[in-house]
Amino acid sequence: MNFRDTLKVNGKGHLEIGGADTVELAEKFGTPLYVLDEQYIRDMCSVYRDTIRQDYDGNGIVLYASKALSCLAMYKIAESENIGVDVVSGGELFTALRAGFPAEKIYMHGNNKLPQELEFALDHNVGTIVVDAYSEIDLLDGLCAQKNKVQNILIRINPGVEAHTHRFIQTAKTDSKFGFSVADGAAMKITEYALSKKNLKLEGYHCHIGSQIFEMQSFVLAVDKMLAFMAAVKENLHFEASVLNLGGGYGIWYTDEDPQLKTEDYAGYLKTVIAELKQKSQEYGLKRPYLVIEPGRSIVGEAGITLYTVGTVKDIPGIKKYVAVDGGMFDNPRYALYQAKYTAILANRANEKATETVSVAGKCCESGDIVCANVSLPQAHSGDILAVLSTGAYNYSMASNYNRNLIPPIVLVKDGKGEYIVKPQTYEDLVRNDVIPERLK
Ligand SMILES: Cc1ncc(COP(=O)(O)O)c(C=O)c1O
Repeated sequence: MNFRDTLKVNGKGHLEIGGADTVELAEKFGTPLYVLDEQYIRDMCSVYRDTIRQDYDGNGIVLYASKALSCLAMYKIAESENIGVDVVSGGELFTALRAGFPAEKIYMHGNNKLPQELEFALDHNVGTIVVDAYSEIDLLDGLCAQKNKVQNILIRINPGVEAHTHRFIQTAKTDSKFGFSVADGAAMKITEYALSKKNLKLEGYHCHIGSQIFEMQSFVLAVDKMLAFMAAVKENLHFEASVLNLGGGYGIWYTDEDPQLKTEDYAGYLKTVIAELKQKSQEYGLKRPYLVIEPGRSIVGEAGITLYTVGTVKDIPGIKKYVAVDGGMFDNPRYALYQAKYTAILANRANEKATETVSVAGKCCESGDIVCANVSLPQAHSGDILAVLSTGAYNYSMASNYNRNLIPPIVLVKDGKGEYIVKPQTYEDLVRNDVIPERLK
């Protein structure tokens, strides 16, 4: 197992994150606990931002895809790193605005934005809305007319490249709830339609080809397909797009099946994309579009770990050993959803060699409530602190109160010190919105 710069083992044999002893964090803040290393997040924001600055004359913007982890402090970090954000719901938008995030640097996504979400976005002057349906275009244009506004939009395109982890496929027509397909002409038609709307200003296109992608060729292919499409639009409709948003999707390390990338590798990814973009723009005689990228997982994923306390241990000889922790699918549903793989270590005995393979189980009343399966650990005992690595993205943001468990707080570590950025929930929070009708009293 390799550790990224953010993680190391200290002289006491304890795991450290961002210079903070995780056993001390667990003692001070309790478990289960999400912990994030601020420096890691900032390093990832700056590597993308600086690569666009250096390799593309600053003609673009990095958006933090805040679905990965949305809370006030994350928008504050994004703002101070001088990047934008993408939001996918009224709730994420509300959080960004409450954090004081500049509205013009917010891009709003969603395949089924609600009328009230669009209105909320318009009332707060959100910079760009990425449209994904004819009905949305009609609704948005109508709302803009009422409010006497013109809204910048991008259209979500399905370029026919689908990529996941180490593989990608090219499909003529992808079965996806997202985007208009280039292959069947839908993308061209919606462009013509959007251009006919007086209160919408079509700036360009968006695509997102998948997540947890390591195969650079898939991003390069997406650039090729998008530029070819933009050239066809120019020829057919005499409209030249000025913005190209290529979405997110860069992969991160979860287990040793994944490559362990350094910040400069992410710069390398982006440089390759930019080089292709420059070349294809020239080949097609297009102006270089303003480049937008939307990394989420790669900004915050490896910056985070989750700390748990080990409770019961159940050994079924010859079958399996379950190490149960005080968390579960309510703080990390990714194994239950799609058998996501993770690496776990005993944070209080981080130097000890792994001697067995176990499944880390949660405390929910579901057999499928597994945090991670088949992980190698030293023999774990009740009271040990177990750390699951690379949990910064799509954990807190996917958490629930299932079984009325409390969503863990988040502690942000900077210069070896941790402080809350999300406070612990209380049982009172759980019943705050419950109502007993008169007839049940
Ligand atoms: C439209 C869009 N942009 C950006 C992202 C972020 O992707 P990732 O976290 O893999 O970088 C996603 C993830 O689903 C997405 O749907």
